[in-house]
Amino acid sequence: MGAVLIVDDMEDLRFSLASLVKKEGYSVSTAADGAGALEIATSSIIDLIFLDIGLPDTDGIRLIGRLKEIVPDVDIVMLTGINDAKTAVDSLRAGAVDYIVKPFDIIEFKSTLRRIMQSRLMGKKALLETREVGLDRIIGTCEAMRRVKETILMASEVDAPVLVTGETGTGKELAARAVHDCRNRQSGVFVKVDCGTLSANLIESELFGYDKGAFTDAKTDKKGLVEVANGGTLFLDEIGNLPISLQPKLLRLIEESTFRKVGGIKDIQVRVRIIAATNAHLEDEIDKGSFREDLFYRLNVIPIILPPLRDRGEDVLLLANYFLHTLKKELKKEISGFTPATCKDMLQHSWPGNIRELRNLIEREVLFSRTGWLTLHGLNCPATGSPQERNQEIVTLREMERQYIEKVLNLTSNNKSKAARLLGISRTTLREKMQTDQFQAT
Ligand SMILES: Nc1ncnc2c1ncn2[C@@H]1O[C@H](COP(=O)(O)OP(=O)(O)OP(=O)(O)O)[C@@H](O)[C@H]1O
Ligand SMILES: [Mg+2]
Repeated sequence: MGAVLIVDDMEDLRFSLASLVKKEGYSVSTAADGAGALEIATSSIIDLIFLDIGLPDTDGIRLIGRLKEIVPDVDIVMLTGINDAKTAVDSLRAGAVDYIVKPFDIIEFKSTLRRIMQSRLMGKKALLETREVGLDRIIGTCEAMRRVKETILMASEVDAPVLVTGETGTGKELAARAVHDCRNRQSGVFVKVDCGTLSANLIESELFGYDKGAFTDAKTDKKGLVEVANGGTLFLDEIGNLPISLQPKLLRLIEESTFRKVGGIKDIQVRVRIIAATNAHLEDEIDKGSFREDLFYRLNVIPIILPPLRDRGEDVLLLANYFLHTLKKELKKEISGFTPATCKDMLQHSWPGNIRELRNLIEREVLFSRTGWLTLHGLNCPATGSPQERNQEIVTLREMERQYIEKVLNLTSNNKSKAARLLGISRTTLREKMQTDQFQAT
């Protein structure tokens, strides 16, 4: 038994999370604002708090400190918005043990809940981001995926840098987490930095921290993410977007395990495992002069190359059934399986969005179906045909994509963060897409 407090100003979210927690066998209380949370923390025993970052009466980060004063032993998990890497990190610095990005799914919420309650039970402090993404969560048995899994296991046993490459949605982050989680000794924390969403200015102080007085706003010292990841893993996502001016600093971190804070005068020694990921061709970036060749070789010690879904043969059906099975259970739907025609279509579709596209498509269909056999609509673009035909097809797909993106941009009054969130892509990806010829032409 244990007690959970949920603090969020959205009533329906509060209600549904509370009933989930209850179903898992814990007692639960809820609060709609900071004052309510403090009152409950003062008057009852609480093990775990899920805390919304934006409350009506106070700022979630400040509240962490006050709650910790009242219940020093409590574990706090922040509920943050997407594209809010900075506040998520600030909350970890303020003493939260983890964060979940909204909108999150039930599976993620439950696994965080279980993980923290279990590790409390064992008298251990919950470790940030140890979501046990073992090899089992990576579905696939084709030859290429078998090799990927072997490489992940091998990589988990050594400290050398890993470079994960693959098209969008092929599971690069999943692979990075698996490398971290497969280590059998204490592997510390997994800290993800999205080099694509942070601005060039911000990224240096986020990564390396700063000393008091480094610039006008630096009123106190600040730890960078490299230091937060000490003893664990630093995952540099979209490494192709790391500004060239910062690349020597990363190179030095890899070669000498030391770095300096912004405005700092002494070297700081750390032990971090670096995993980088990209869907860009770094070789092209090197040719263009935007990525350092020496850094590329330093990062690419252990390459993990994720094949596109269209090259994974029958794995697509394995994945489809896996997603269907999990969703069916979560949503309590009586769905028998996919129709034979749909299976055939899935094997032929070109999956430009790879596994993410497959998962989203199934999610949508399952939500709208009740019982019976599932048909996936929108699978009518076979990947066969001559190269010219395929090019034609890609062009039309791009055109469709452009129209769709424009529609969403219109809907959000050109708010790119909002649009990116609705589209399920990062702001950088959206920006990149908008820079292509299709957009330029209009
Ligand atoms: N082999 C797999 N088995 C099960 N789930 C997978 C697999 N590969 C990817 N997924 C799921 O697909 C989704 C996309 O994966 P992930 O975020 O790791 O991709 P990515 O390559 O980092 O994408 P992007 O380039 O857009 O950042 C996630 O929900 C992930 O859990
Ligand atoms: Mg990713």
